[in-house]
Amino acid sequence: MKHLISIGDLSPVQLENLLDLADRLKALSKAGIPHPLLKGKTLGMIFAKSSTRTRISFEVGMVQLGGHALFLSTQDIQLGRGETIADTARVMSRFLDCLMIRTFDHQDVLELVRYSSIPIINGLTDLLHPCQALADLMTIREHKGRLRGLKLAYLGDGNNVANSLLLACSKAGMDVAIASPAGYTCDPVCIARGQEIARTQGGSILLTDDPLAAASGADAIYTDTWVSMGQENEKALRLPIFSPYQVNDAIMAAAKPEAVFLHCLPAYRGFEVTESVIDGPNSVIFDEAENRLHAQKAVLLTLLAPDAKLPDSHDA
Ligand code: CP
Ligand code: NVA
Repeated sequence: MKHLISIGDLSPVQLENLLDLADRLKALSKAGIPHPLLKGKTLGMIFAKSSTRTRISFEVGMVQLGGHALFLSTQDIQLGRGETIADTARVMSRFLDCLMIRTFDHQDVLELVRYSSIPIINGLTDLLHPCQALADLMTIREHKGRLRGLKLAYLGDGNNVANSLLLACSKAGMDVAIASPAGYTCDPVCIARGQEIARTQGGSILLTDDPLAAASGADAIYTDTWVSMGQENEKALRLPIFSPYQVNDAIMAAAKPEAVFLHCLPAYRGFEVTESVIDGPNSVIFDEAENRLHAQKAVLLTLLAPDAKLPDSHDA
């Protein structure tokens, strides 16, 4: 593994190894066992969009691993004033050990990969959000004990979060059902890739415009905002189109009684999800948010110190 750009690039074994490592890192943190395996390493974090979870979890993750993280807003660095991605990549490769980027155009991340000599982590583009999908799988596995054979239903916008979830769940051998209104389905390339992965991994993919059909018998229900970053001026158009896809008590009643509810956050109560669901007993959103930290530490270690030996969590 040289970069983390899309979950589609990982083999099923690499994906499982990342999740296992994330679990071990979480256990070490909970036991209070230090694990400074990235001493002296620096992560740069380029942000062209806002962030709470991604920014904090990467920065805290680097601190816990004994390294350092730099927050680089495109409002402050020369990239935002027209310096090319190619030059930025080559300059940053001379200073940093790893670079995370959150931006709009997915092609910009691929360009960064092309010109950098250090690992690149995709911290969200308009197309994908792989770090989120890792934390999502980790959270579902933690609550359900397994992934293979489980059904996840995603309701709403076929956006970056949905695209990565589709790839991740199919890699893990899950059944994925995505309900979205016409014109707002997932990216066609991600759908085709997900279908190909599902065929080899024994899972399935259902694409529908019927939210109840998607939710029926699900082990996990997932939704995200109807208005992603960069779409603010489409809000008035989008809200009525998406309102039939709200995750509410009727949707949860169609899922299994013990189904978990997930949301990448930030959430907009009363829109994509009701308060009764997101703040209800089946919601695991804060475990999910916490798991961003552990999953990303696993990514950082895998990219920067793949042979590092973790302390034993029984040493506590
Ligand atoms: N879920 C997520 O990526 O959150 P932030 O936008 O706060 O980073
Ligand atoms: N789909 C959302 C996810 C935010 C973490 C967005 O892109 O704004």
